[in-house]
Amino acid sequence: MSRLVLLLIVCLLALAPVPSWAWGRDGHRIVAAMAESRLTPTALERVRAILGEDTSLASVSTWADEVRPRRRESAPWHYVNIPIEGVGVFEPELCPNDDCVTMIIGRMAATLADAQMYDPLEVEEALKFIVHFLGDQAQPLHNANEADDRGGNAKRLVFFDRETNLHSLWDTGLIRRELESRGIDAAAFGNELNEEIRPESLRRWVAGTPIDWSNEAHAVAQDFVYPGWAPELGEDYFRKSIGPVRVQLQRGGVRTAHLLNSIFDTQYDGLPTIRRPFVLEDRPDEGVRPQLAPVFEQAPEAEMPVAP
Ligand code: ADE
Ligand code: ZN
Ligand code: ZN
Repeated sequence: MSRLVLLLIVCLLALAPVPSWAWGRDGHRIVAAMAESRLTPTALERVRAILGEDTSLASVSTWADEVRPRRRESAPWHYVNIPIEGVGVFEPELCPNDDCVTMIIGRMAATLADAQMYDPLEVEEALKFIVHFLGDQAQPLHNANEADDRGGNAKRLVFFDRETNLHSLWDTGLIRRELESRGIDAAAFGNELNEEIRPESLRRWVAGTPIDWSNEAHAVAQDFVYPGWAPELGEDYFRKSIGPVRVQLQRGGVRTAHLLNSIFDTQYDGLPTIRRPFVLEDRPDEGVRPQLAPVFEQAPEAEMPVAP
């Protein structure tokens, strides 16, 4: 390879937008680790058989964002644009061909439930997808849209001197602020959230369908995300938002465990209680580097990059 080509590659890599993960890496990993601590032994056995003995749900929870550039068909699976201006509930017209976060969950669940009919690679991908999409669905702005703002991506703002947008703030900014202001890491935060879930909450949260869960997340966007948003946000907005962020992460973790237990364990009693300690080992470099290939496979983007 000539030095010029090498230089070009290095420049392209430097220019490539560093992917900002939906719910951020921390949010997805917390949801997945919470789910893993609540899998029944039988369900965990199936998960290990599919992913490999040493592969945690947390470690595969952001894979769907990593493959998004080279798996074009998966792009609409990360969200559903329920209009803030409308009646505020999911309608099939918002989800053509079931290609949205609300309906993709059932499609992936069907693949996992009939695993013997599919190629093992397809089953493995379905598991990685469903863990990710149950996380995305819990992020209010993955279920909401106001006047073409693409789930808040178009609403630029400054949050404690940091330039961001409303969508990224809910993916990552609020969680980061919580961790930094308390001097804790994602593992400690996730464990705290996991431990504080009461049995009555469990019972309420596993009821319903993915459509109910998208409607519920949309209601959080209507009640807490959009009211009070402004081009400059700080402590007041953080304080009114962090409660809903915590609950949505908990709901995502509980529902992920519930679906996987229901699919993989015929003896499952219907409540995803804690079965083992919460484990979220921090591997800071994992998945953060953009890969070489997508840079060249990606068509030029017309719009500014949006958070997934
Ligand atoms: N792209 C368009 N709408 C979106 C949303 N609500 N969430 C994430 N990405 C989007
Ligand atoms: Zn997102
Ligand atoms: Zn996503």
